[in-house]
Amino acid sequence: MYLALPAGDDPMIVHNASPPGSSILELGSGPGRLTRVLIALGHEVVAVDDSQEMLAHVTGAETVRADLFDIDLGRRFDVVLAASHLINHPDEHMRGSLLAVCKRHLSPEGIVLVQRYAPGWPPQDGERTGSAGPVDMTFRVRSRRGAVVSASVTYQLGTVQWIQDYEAVDVDDDLLTAAVESAGLRVEGSIDDTATWVKLGHQ
Ligand SMILES: C[S@@+](CC[C@H](N)C(=O)[O-])C[C@H]1O[C@@H](n2cnc3c(N)ncnc32)[C@H](O)[C@@H]1O
Repeated sequence: MYLALPAGDDPMIVHNASPPGSSILELGSGPGRLTRVLIALGHEVVAVDDSQEMLAHVTGAETVRADLFDIDLGRRFDVVLAASHLINHPDEHMRGSLLAVCKRHLSPEGIVLVQRYAPGWPPQDGERTGSAGPVDMTFRVRSRRGAVVSASVTYQLGTVQWIQDYEAVDVDDDLLTAAVESAGLRVEGSIDDTATWVKLGHQ
């Protein structure tokens, strides 16, 4: 299903915020939806995922099969990329681990690019539909437990359907700033119109 999803605007948002030809550590690359465009735009990408099935589809990048919340490659990068709402993980400690991994791999002048749900997520309970390329999607809020939202997305590609259940929290500016600062990083600002992409740097 991820192979069928178009890359959309995300690679250009990342590219425009990154130095030309920069090295990028991509956390949770999946099958390389963003990776392949970033490589075509001149970046050197190391793609990390814990799924060998996903990494098998990544071409043109070094791949590392590992837990992205607990990785130490002993190398530093111009850009560390944490796309796909990893920062919205429902567990505060996991959000801290993610940011610690980002900092550990960041060169002295490097930047972290984090993609979160737009502040205020989810806008409402119930069901919303949309599409991306050939894939139709239905998003449902299933329940709420304090700040933790249980949701699901149903992906439909032709006759093939896949349902992904997940939990997430809204990471608004205050929550983001607190987590980022306790990881020894600094929020430098949003890099897109919807404040979903945020740039971080060293303190
Ligand atoms: C929603 S997919 C997004 C993939 C890609 N970033 C994209 O935008 O198309 C999330 C990816 O993160 C990977 N992932 C989830 N938890 C992980 C973990 N703890 N360590 C490494 N990879 C993980 C999954 O295997 C999956 O490929």
